[in-house]
Amino acid sequence: MEIKIFNNEKEIGEAAGSFYVDYINANPACVLGFATGASPVPTYEYIAESYKQGKVSLKNISTFNLDEYCDLPKDHKNSYFTFMCENLFSKTDINMDNVDFLDGNADPDEESARYAEAIKAKGGIDIQLLGIGRNGHIAFNEPGEEFTDEAWKVTLTQSTIDANSIYFDDVPMPHYALTMGIGSIMRSKKIIMIATGSSKAQAVRDMIKGPVTPMCPASILQQHPDVTVYLDTAAAALL
Ligand code: GLP
Repeated sequence: MEIKIFNNEKEIGEAAGSFYVDYINANPACVLGFATGASPVPTYEYIAESYKQGKVSLKNISTFNLDEYCDLPKDHKNSYFTFMCENLFSKTDINMDNVDFLDGNADPDEESARYAEAIKAKGGIDIQLLGIGRNGHIAFNEPGEEFTDEAWKVTLTQSTIDANSIYFDDVPMPHYALTMGIGSIMRSKKIIMIATGSSKAQAVRDMIKGPVTPMCPASILQQHPDVTVYLDTAAAALL
């Protein structure tokens, strides 16, 4: 793993964002795996601003997202699809026909098979962006007994519900989600992980220095050949 430490999340956004802009310019039809949550927002802002300035075009890229809540309409203000539209897609020239998302209201097994096939048909994911949960989860793969493979339906833990329920003000936060599995994430050719703030410090330490165990799902990244971790000093404090 390559570890990069920055003073603050703005610097991370500039560094990771400029990496993406250069990558897309060199590989205009690349396949990108995106993530939701606060961690990637400055990176998305950088990419959107670069588009606005004419420095990059997203019109030929294809995208997949990590996860989506169950039992929430796709266009609900708290869906991850809406999050991506608001934070990136609507601010660029991305072709929405090339945007794929897990459907949290579909049959989980059929949706998992569809997503796996769709990723394969695009030749796999070139770069998967990740955040990390306070309990070491990646996407919505919570700590558990074993590492998962393809997309599956997960029951969210109390830690995740506590962290994410602040965003839900009109409906209760869903307790289930569809998430890409650990296997789907690990098959990405390159992985970029962003973690900021002291609430992530222990999970970051367990991911990098702890044993590889499904009790810290992010620890599996130690076994991926091409991972770059972008941290602020608070998230890196226990390394
Ligand atoms: C959610 C998402 C994850 C994300 C994590 C951390 O649970 N499913 O993909 O990495 O939260 O989010 P944040 O970046 O807001 O701390």
